[in-house]
Amino acid sequence: MSAYNIEIQKIKKSRRDSVDFNQLKFGDRFADHMFECEYKNGEWSNFKIKPYGPIQMMPSANILHYGQGVFEGMKAFCHKDGKVNIFRPDKHYERFNRSCKRMNIPEVPKELFISALKTLVDLDRKWVPIDRFKSLYIRPFVVATEEFLGLKTSTTYKFLIITGPVGNYYSEGIKPVKLTTMPEYVRAVKGGFGDAKVPGNYAGSLLPADLALKQGYTQVMWLDAVEHKYVEEVGSMNMFFVIDDSVVTPPLGGTILPGVTRRSILDLCSEWGIKVSESKISVDELMDAHNAGLLSESFGSGTAAVVSPVGLIHHDGYNIELDREKMGPLAQRLYDGITSIHHGDAEPPADWCMII
Ligand code: COI
Repeated sequence: MSAYNIEIQKIKKSRRDSVDFNQLKFGDRFADHMFECEYKNGEWSNFKIKPYGPIQMMPSANILHYGQGVFEGMKAFCHKDGKVNIFRPDKHYERFNRSCKRMNIPEVPKELFISALKTLVDLDRKWVPIDRFKSLYIRPFVVATEEFLGLKTSTTYKFLIITGPVGNYYSEGIKPVKLTTMPEYVRAVKGGFGDAKVPGNYAGSLLPADLALKQGYTQVMWLDAVEHKYVEEVGSMNMFFVIDDSVVTPPLGGTILPGVTRRSILDLCSEWGIKVSESKISVDELMDAHNAGLLSESFGSGTAAVVSPVGLIHHDGYNIELDREKMGPLAQRLYDGITSIHHGDAEPPADWCMII
């Protein structure tokens, strides 16, 4: 029993039948209901699940001007027996809470987060796609709502959760994506908030991402902000490289997002006896490894992206060409391993799955 009494206003007629579950993209379809509550006078209250729709806030609300807000990206999957699996809610909650701390937002109690999540996903469980390559994407977020244009920490907030059925994140599907570095732009610096899931990190990436797209690349592979040479992440994914049969991923040093899928990959690799070194890797080292024929695979990981192979990395006029057609063997093994756990076809490590 939760201490939070959530009032439920059900939609009159579900919109589910208007959605073609065979043609799902990412992020353009939303389930029937959403969760909403408010923070004022030092406490969270007014817990409601209601039909998905517009929310009310004043045009002077802090989030609209200064961006005091955080979000999470999570997924729920359908098992063959109809049970629904919410993947690693504890890890997502931990990161959400850390992001809130960094943005000076009051903590959302874990019990509230989990209780809202379970109640909402359970109510809209018919929206969780059955198909193995699809899922229900879950977006918890907090926005600062105080009506005030001076720059200060808001005293009022809304915490919401919306969900929607999704297919693959990239239009390439699970085919390899093409990345480019863009050393004239940086994503994050130490002491900033590159390791928090906050709107500004993503908003600042949009111009370089559009420039990359115009040049034919799927996304920007960010380099460090000081020397412009060490690989950091791709806005929607953490990065992995297989060099001479060793696996390398950039370390968490405050400037990259501590991905829950990244963590799951490290856990699975350690269970499978594959050593992954969390160490700095420069784009020059990548080019050298490629020239020496030692760079056999690269892939990214993320909640939305799952495990996505990288087929090409462009840097300063030079192309690191990898397999452009299909996932490499390690990416495939990880993709299969993680999606089997998602869909209940493999035994998960303890605490990974919340079954409802
Ligand atoms: C996620 O992977 O869940 C994210 O939030 C990334 C976003 C660009 C879709």
